[in-house]
Amino acid sequence: MSNDVHQRSITIGGVSAEELVNTYGTPLYAYDTTVIRNKAHAFIDAFKEEEINFQVAYASKAFSTVAMVQLAEQLGLSLDVVSGGELYTAKKAGFPMEKVHFHGNNKSLKEIKEAIELGIGCFVVDNFHELSLLSSESKRQGKVAPVLLRVTPGVEAHTHAYISTGQEDSKFGFDLQAGQAKRAAVEVLEDDSLHLLGLHCHIGSQIFETDGFIEAIDVLYSHLQNWKQTLSYEAEVVNTGGGFGIRYTEDDQPLDPSVFVKTIVKAVKDASERLGMAIPEIWIEPGRSIVGEAGSTIYTIGSEKVIENVRHYLSVDGGMSDNIRPALYDAKYDAALAHQATPDNEQVTYAIAGKACESGDMLIDAITLPKAKSGDLLIVYSTGAYGYSMASNYNRLAKPAVVFAEGGKHQLVVKRETYEDLVKNDLSLQSLD
Ligand code: LLP
Repeated sequence: MSNDVHQRSITIGGVSAEELVNTYGTPLYAYDTTVIRNKAHAFIDAFKEEEINFQVAYASKAFSTVAMVQLAEQLGLSLDVVSGGELYTAKKAGFPMEKVHFHGNNKSLKEIKEAIELGIGCFVVDNFHELSLLSSESKRQGKVAPVLLRVTPGVEAHTHAYISTGQEDSKFGFDLQAGQAKRAAVEVLEDDSLHLLGLHCHIGSQIFETDGFIEAIDVLYSHLQNWKQTLSYEAEVVNTGGGFGIRYTEDDQPLDPSVFVKTIVKAVKDASERLGMAIPEIWIEPGRSIVGEAGSTIYTIGSEKVIENVRHYLSVDGGMSDNIRPALYDAKYDAALAHQATPDNEQVTYAIAGKACESGDMLIDAITLPKAKSGDLLIVYSTGAYGYSMASNYNRLAKPAVVFAEGGKHQLVVKRETYEDLVKNDLSLQSLD
């Protein structure tokens, strides 16, 4: 994406915001797929340099659509899904099931059954309840389910509490310290219908430092050492999750994907060698870092409200229904006008409001832009992860369309919802007598 300081030429994948809006309307999620390609390659190439067996699984919760899953396949990514719905999207996209990893702390029997039938590559098992469902269902189908045990290494990533997951007091995973994980490992090892691939942990999201990964790997290996001695078990796979931070605003200084990969590989190799174990396959699960910076949301500016010496509100034609992150996490975003600045080039500090009936529906608290007017287009950057995927129909707002752009060409990948879509599952009132 190019964005010169005076907002003269704003393009996404080589296409101007105006052209996209003229074709698809606003609000619009627009992805520069070159950015997605580059991010995926950055992770994959870093692993290739390390000469190690690996999988980079795209965490599709960040943005799951048929076209995105197809792009992930083209790029050589595996796929992390967390629900029957994401699994179904993968199936619809023709994604190879042996590269699908199924996550979640409360998978239903129906989801487990479907996933075994489809022959997915791995269940990331979260708790004993799931283990027993998985065991009985794979026996019933006469199959052997590949299992990674998700554990909580007790590492706190320095990130928002809602998106931090590696600490002991978490709803996710088996507790390592209290011995739950080892009991689970024994159960899997003794069960002919399950195959223990190894361990998984995910310490949180939007992480800017490598320390947490090193610490988590240390903790995993202190337990793997014990499992080797007492269970004669060595992990075939170690999965260190996702969480690699991206740039939302200038305050964010993300590390290059290769830095994370090199750090993780080194920590795993060192620990394996130190403890006399074979080096396992290393899997990671980036979501946000694959799609976050690739996506922007284009809005049309509508009403304005000036409270003298307090605030200058500009309202856009979307908001918390297409991007819940500011309201939910106090997330910060950068934005720019897509139109030519006014000739006087006056700068104004605006508060960018959404259109939902909720005072908290503010997309950006304060941003200085060239003076804007109703009808101008506003581009909010880095909305590619957890934007569309967390969108709602609050206030019966229809979900925006999603477009991919690359090399000056563009393609609709999700149609804009219509009013009819909003009521398609509604049934008319009937008399109850
Ligand atoms: N693996 C596991 C097990 C996860 O739980 C997650 C994210 C990921 C991978 C991918 O993390 P990423 O690379 O995208 O940071 N809705 C929140 C983020 C929730 C993340 C949940 N798990 C947000 O908008 O910031």
